[in-house]
Amino acid sequence: MHPQRRLRGRAGSVGAKQPVDMVHGGIVVLDFGSQFAQLITRRVRELNVHAVLLHYDTPIAELLARKPAGIILSGSPSSVYDTDGPKPDAALWTCGIPILGICYGVQLMAQQLGGEVGPSVRREYGPADIQVSDASSPLLRGVGDADGRARVWMSHGDSIIAPPTGFTPLAITDSTPYAALANEAKKLWGIQFHPEVVHTPGGKRLLENFVVGIAKAEQSWTRGRIVADSVAAISAQVGATDQVLCALSGGVDSAVAAALVHRAIGDRLTCVYVDHGLMRKRESELLREVFAETLGMKIVMVDARTRFLNALDGVEDPEEKRKIIGREFIRVFEEESAKLGSFRFLAQGTLYPDVIESTSKDTKAAQKIKTHHNVGGLPEDLAFELVEPLRALFKDEVRAVGLELGLPESVVLRQPFPGPGLAIRIIGPVTEERLSALRDADWIVVDEIKKANLYRSIWQSFAILTPVRSVGVMGDGRTYGNVLAIRAVTSEDGMTADWARLPFELLERISARIVNEVPSVTRVVYDITSKPPATIEWE
Ligand code: XMP
Repeated sequence: MHPQRRLRGRAGSVGAKQPVDMVHGGIVVLDFGSQFAQLITRRVRELNVHAVLLHYDTPIAELLARKPAGIILSGSPSSVYDTDGPKPDAALWTCGIPILGICYGVQLMAQQLGGEVGPSVRREYGPADIQVSDASSPLLRGVGDADGRARVWMSHGDSIIAPPTGFTPLAITDSTPYAALANEAKKLWGIQFHPEVVHTPGGKRLLENFVVGIAKAEQSWTRGRIVADSVAAISAQVGATDQVLCALSGGVDSAVAAALVHRAIGDRLTCVYVDHGLMRKRESELLREVFAETLGMKIVMVDARTRFLNALDGVEDPEEKRKIIGREFIRVFEEESAKLGSFRFLAQGTLYPDVIESTSKDTKAAQKIKTHHNVGGLPEDLAFELVEPLRALFKDEVRAVGLELGLPESVVLRQPFPGPGLAIRIIGPVTEERLSALRDADWIVVDEIKKANLYRSIWQSFAILTPVRSVGVMGDGRTYGNVLAIRAVTSEDGMTADWARLPFELLERISARIVNEVPSVTRVVYDITSKPPATIEWE
């Protein structure tokens, strides 16, 4: 068992308008509800092996039709003793394909094949040391040190007490004699710990041992191959004459989606960029340079700055700001696309995690903290057929594809930026004057962080303009201006985050430049709150 995440609907098929197809010879990860199920899938793909995440009870015939080389069973917040706990198709265990059970996955394997699982004498959460008993085992080869010891990450309350017949232990810990076990003849392997998390240093090697060594999966999932497959799929979907429209937001996903579609159909793609005036400094120029001038794409720049500013006039409430921006974006996009003629297709940068999560909207809604208006995310009733070339890809794969397509690093490796833009980084009303001050301060933050070579190791770094006013002194005179906050966080996925321990000298440079170069700011503070309890953005 490990940290809770509710089981969701059937990933990859329900809610997927175009199913994500399995590359034959790859890996199927069966999702029993672990928060790490996606991470396992990503780790496999990092080995250049295609992997898909499927619901735990996928019928065995459906699973075999994908011709996987191996199957990995994820962990779960459930216990194998829960009567309504997730159980796979019973034919799984005899399907003949190599299986690796992780945590709940191995407990399920043990229990369903006649072994015994029970509550651990001592629960294990966090780091633990395993002692590999069979260093020549194909699964654990190279995972431990010279003495066969390895640091791993555990998160379980149940343990295997007696393995099923035919299984031999491969590693032990102080609290379990079955930290890893196998029935090699039946191609069944299991581990109690989590190889997918960074806290298990040998985890990558273990997964490689299983995926490449044992399952003999094909290592053909390279970025060149992804581009070639995507281009072929787009050409087949769109055909030889139809036109495609794409809303460019300035973010990585829409940029890479547009570049892929352009590679497939050239001038039959038209991109629309709505400049809502809430963008960072030089944003519109960058997009024009990259897409129109360098890549030669057809891009329509819509200047809607006044319209958005008018709509936001006097609005202070963060949710209200998001709603107005989302609504105006859709209106502008509809008006502009109508002017451009008729399009059968709309290209969108939907990613694999969105596809996987698309069935969990009901559970997510209950926990909603902010409305994340995907500006650029259009309503479903628009009369277009969707082209979603990134539907099978994780973010890091999208970046790799972007580079493969020749997009510059300034677009592909940029930090995330929220759809509602600077409007949710100005606390209080949004005015042209305040936008201009924030844009200048934000530019300085990013510029200094880039100069310090920290831009890529930080998830996001930006400025927030507060309405708080404070007294200062410059030369011989008194000043009275705004307090500006700097936020810089490290994160894996934006769901949790820690404030970045920026060097004091860097903070000093940022602060000095801002108070000197942005006249309305008299004081700079650094936000040292993690997420949770705070969020990354201030609004
Ligand atoms: P929070 O502030 O919720 O942000 O911790 C998590 C990540 O989401 C981004 N974010 C948004 N992205 N529309 C977006 O497209 C939004 O309304 C929005 N609000 C926050 C934020 O920048 C961070 O990366």
